[in-house]
Amino acid sequence: MTQDELKQATAQAAADYVARHLPQGGILGVGTGSTANCFIAALAPLKDRLGGAVASSEATRQRLQQLGIPVISLNDVLKLAIYVDGADEIDASLAMIKGGGGALTREKIVAAAADTFVCIADASKQVATLGRFPLPIEIIPMATRQVSRRLLEMGGDPKLREGFVTDNGNVIIDVHGLTISDPIALEAELNQIVGVVTNGLFAARGADVLLLATGDGVQRITRT
Ligand code: 5RP
Repeated sequence: MTQDELKQATAQAAADYVARHLPQGGILGVGTGSTANCFIAALAPLKDRLGGAVASSEATRQRLQQLGIPVISLNDVLKLAIYVDGADEIDASLAMIKGGGGALTREKIVAAAADTFVCIADASKQVATLGRFPLPIEIIPMATRQVSRRLLEMGGDPKLREGFVTDNGNVIIDVHGLTISDPIALEAELNQIVGVVTNGLFAARGADVLLLATGDGVQRITRT
């Protein structure tokens, strides 16, 4: 199977999960990226039973609206039953690196409002230890140099994502070469650096369910 076919398989499994678990008229949180785009397409047959969706990016908002799914502000919703999103890497504890598409801050906000985070990923995203994928960090632009210096001190190799501005008007630094032996501790430590908006470690609030597409089918892995 191609990677694209694997993305479609996990996206379809997530749509089936939503059909089974989201109450009629429920509001769904929707992530960002190429796998999330496959999921949005797979939502088409379900659109009449959704009360609406909260989007984790402007790109996702546009796709949902093109499909005729009402997009609702998170400020108008108390809680989401389910949030579905992709990942750049995911480990056995279902901690993730996210933000390859630059939407990490809104993704983390929407994920925090959800009872269940369903991660959709193909087998290439599963790793023993997080960190081979450069860790994205969203930064207030004026703090770029200061934050980069601190990241160097921490043993990372920070690279500004050239020409990229987030939906929040900030910049992204991709940090190469970090050893992530304790994702929860590193997530908290990075958040303490002044000028950091969000880092792409989703460990304190990882996924609850992983729908992992492999050549042998989609495996459902639940956080223990
Ligand atoms: C966007 C993300 C994406 O979920 C992550 O980059 C995976 O993307 P893709 O499904 O295209 O591989 O975190 O900010």
